[in-house]
Amino acid sequence: MQKFVYEYATKVYFGEGAAKEHLAEAVSGFGERVMLAFGGGSVKKNGIYDEVKKILDEAGKKVIDFPGIMSNPTYAKVQEGAALAKKEKVDFILAVGGGSVIDCCKIVAAQAKTEKDLWEMEMKEHQFPAEVLPMGAVVTASGTGAEMNGGAVITNEEKIIKAGMAASAPRFAILDPVYTSSVPRMQVLSGAFDTLSHAMETYLGNSDEDNVSDDVALAVMRNTVANMRRLLKNKDDLQARGNLMWDSAMAENGILKVGRLTDFQAHQLEHQLGAYTDCNHGQGLAVIHPAYYRHIVKDAEGKFRRFGREVFGADTPETGVEALADFIKECGLPTKMGELKSKVEITPEILRNVADTCNVIKCNPRELSRDEIYDILMECM
Ligand code: NZQ
Ligand code: ZN
Repeated sequence: MQKFVYEYATKVYFGEGAAKEHLAEAVSGFGERVMLAFGGGSVKKNGIYDEVKKILDEAGKKVIDFPGIMSNPTYAKVQEGAALAKKEKVDFILAVGGGSVIDCCKIVAAQAKTEKDLWEMEMKEHQFPAEVLPMGAVVTASGTGAEMNGGAVITNEEKIIKAGMAASAPRFAILDPVYTSSVPRMQVLSGAFDTLSHAMETYLGNSDEDNVSDDVALAVMRNTVANMRRLLKNKDDLQARGNLMWDSAMAENGILKVGRLTDFQAHQLEHQLGAYTDCNHGQGLAVIHPAYYRHIVKDAEGKFRRFGREVFGADTPETGVEALADFIKECGLPTKMGELKSKVEITPEILRNVADTCNVIKCNPRELSRDEIYDILMECM
């Protein structure tokens, strides 16, 4: 284990009825003016918006709506939210949605407190927000674990870059598996694959193999796979949705990452693929992972052997990777670039751009060249 300092910022309220039971208490003490942020309308259809709004009204809050946060939230949407927060003198931001809504709000919370261009400040000057508006999250679609950490992934459309930005973690997260009941099965599976990816990418960082975090990561992977299979049988299995919701949180609350290096090369490829195509995050990962792992399996044979054996009951490092590829098919997730929903046709030129602009990780089993990244992406065509 390497040295670490671990502090946990987010108070979690988990379980059926968590918003009704705890939201009023959770938002108390944060001021009167609450920005209620949400996505493209699912929360209006499934009644979550009405339930949350009523709780806020009864708690005496003045609610200011910030609707329309898209999947893969853009930096332009962040600016819109920050301008609204400033104009309305918002005291607190409540994100009600999946990873996209939560991420957008994390950066709105920071941008609302500075006149500086946050993107330039973070990416060029490597300075990070000193002050942010407090925010909380009501999770309606799980998978990213965005509610449990201080990072946010934002697409800068002008620069064609989708990248992680630093912000503050939500002060609290409401995790009610019932709130995810209306998420279509394919989105639940895509989100859950993202969780699996987070645990795999953490586990495969180039660290010593005698590490308690690895044992926890493998347990999260096994549980995620088992509950994805349960959902394939019965999409309304609430116990499975609840397990996946907590797997998602566990994979990104920092616990798996303490005392070790992480990989996250597949995420870097997917994020840039997302910048060019606006594809679904979990589905992009499902396409990329097997091809990436076929390239690095010989560089971390011990880790891949253990992964294959403990997660899929496979005998060898290579059959472990193929078991992962088979599992992706079993879930009906995309396996090729052409199956991704994309705003443009995915061509070799686009993949060359992705390879040339993505971050290259140095603490994975083996650092990749940009040409090898291009080869990996082309193998997904
Ligand atoms: O926009 P609405 O209408 O709400 O529909 C959403 C959206 O279409 C829908 N949805 C959400 N809750 C629902 C529901 N539909 C029915 N019933 C409900 N209860 O689900 C769709 C997907 O939502 P989205 O938030 O985009 O998905 P996800 O949670 O997978 O978040 C993806 C974003 O998070 C980033 C990704 O890159 C991507 O931008 N990530 C954030 C991370 C973090 N901050 O820690 C880590 C991840 O690696 C990831 O990069
Ligand atoms: Zn992810």
